[in-house]
Amino acid sequence: MVRLTPLAGLLLSSTLGSASIIRNRQASASIDEAFKSAGKDYFGTCGDQGTLSDDTNAAVVKADFGQLTPENSMKWDSTEPSQGSFTLDGADYLVDFASSNNKLVRGHTLVWHSQLPSWVEGITDKETLTSVMKNHITTLMERYKGKVYAWDVVNEILNEDGSLRSSVFYNVLGEDFVRIAFETAREADPDAKLYINDYNLDSASYAKTKGMVSHVQEWLAQGIPIDGIGSQTHLSAGASSTVKEALSSLAESGVSEVAITELDIAGASDADYVNAATACLEVSKCVGITVWGVSDKDSWRSDTTPLLFDSNFQPKSAYNAILEAL
Ligand code: XIL
Repeated sequence: MVRLTPLAGLLLSSTLGSASIIRNRQASASIDEAFKSAGKDYFGTCGDQGTLSDDTNAAVVKADFGQLTPENSMKWDSTEPSQGSFTLDGADYLVDFASSNNKLVRGHTLVWHSQLPSWVEGITDKETLTSVMKNHITTLMERYKGKVYAWDVVNEILNEDGSLRSSVFYNVLGEDFVRIAFETAREADPDAKLYINDYNLDSASYAKTKGMVSHVQEWLAQGIPIDGIGSQTHLSAGASSTVKEALSSLAESGVSEVAITELDIAGASDADYVNAATACLEVSKCVGITVWGVSDKDSWRSDTTPLLFDSNFQPKSAYNAILEAL
């Protein structure tokens, strides 16, 4: 039997107004509280105005999660669709929701080849691209200074073989774009934790994981201010057993922290979710886990039902399995 937290119960009774739905809904104990009691900083999720203005979804976020990542609203195509004109209503909504509900925010993401407007992709000279990157990073980070605990400064910059991915940033500036991005970010908000974030870092022996470790070691040796590595951890079913070893190897690169930043697992089996949660628990530099959404119905991988709440916002058995494991 799962417990109904008083807050969730209250919110649900005011939102749904039906005792039968409430009984049915049965919000569980807060996974964020349980994760914090186990020594970590947060157990969070992603969201944006669309999902956060859904009362049922918002009630679950408020009751059960301690951190928010904007799913899309801080990406370049949302924030600076044309040069120098910033559209930050969506990002503001997320940050305001987080501030008023006492949730940490991970900023996501400043430099990424995807969801990038074509005006940026079309830049061909170093000087222009450098000043455009600096302006973008500085504008976002200064606006949310003190409200965003960590930023994914660069996202998905590696190929599967561990080399640097072709993108406008790499093609025009070479590897130096990494230094420019992190140095600009450090200057814009010296208190924010600065992350490099990527996917398929789920096995220590995989070329991309090894490439990440060696690049980060080298960049740290060059004095580039990288604080953390984010492992997105979008997993297929049964792929969780190597996550802990992979996280350990990322932590050994010399960064001060690592995090699981976009967790979702096809099929959402108890065993896979418990493996992922205990991986973070047992790697001392792992500060927290973000699952990539609340309900399966809002997941970018909804056909694989990869999240902790089903389409009716019922906690799935993996949710309770993590609580038990904690
Ligand atoms: C995804 C969002 O969940 C979708 O809504 C959007 O259409 C595409 O991007 N890696 C990332 C995330 O870093 O930003 C992506 O989010 C998922 C993969």
